[in-house]
Amino acid sequence: MVNTHPPQPHPDDIVQIIKRDHKPLKVLLAILKNENVPYLEKREAFQQLSPLLEAHNVPEQEIWYHCMKREHAYTVEISEGELEHRLAEQICKDMKTTTSERSFLSKAKVLAEMIEHHIKVEERDLLPDFESATTLDERVELGLIYLERQQQIESLQTTERHRFPLSSLDNMQG
Ligand SMILES: [Fe+2]
Ligand SMILES: [Fe+2]
Repeated sequence: MVNTHPPQPHPDDIVQIIKRDHKPLKVLLAILKNENVPYLEKREAFQQLSPLLEAHNVPEQEIWYHCMKREHAYTVEISEGELEHRLAEQICKDMKTTTSERSFLSKAKVLAEMIEHHIKVEERDLLPDFESATTLDERVELGLIYLERQQQIESLQTTERHRFPLSSLDNMQG
């Protein structure tokens, strides 16, 4: 009998992991660019977004982008993606230290629009092309390396949070 069921997604496939990581990012980015959400709620959303974005962008670039550059012909798209990762990191740094509400809100909007577009390009173009050019075994191997790197970053973030609790950062920002 012919099996008509599509293959089940593998949880450690790097493509599945990246799509899974994008979901909470999209929710938080939508809050950041929503004109009807008050400033303090946006600050809370940003405090959640910033570590998630770092723990996604760093392994994504080091493992997936690195592999795409080496094995596949996506140099232009990957260069743009790397630039957007770098800009996002810089904007997040600025947002953490700014004391001006207006400056925070304008950076939040720029960050949200840029990263929403960035995620759209990854999901619409890069991930499907990468999926069809690789085997599941290859993607699972990369996925496991990605998860290990992500765990390292998350434990560094936990250490940092203990050294600089969020409440003390709030006091610094005034
Ligand atoms: Fe990315
Ligand atoms: Fe991504």
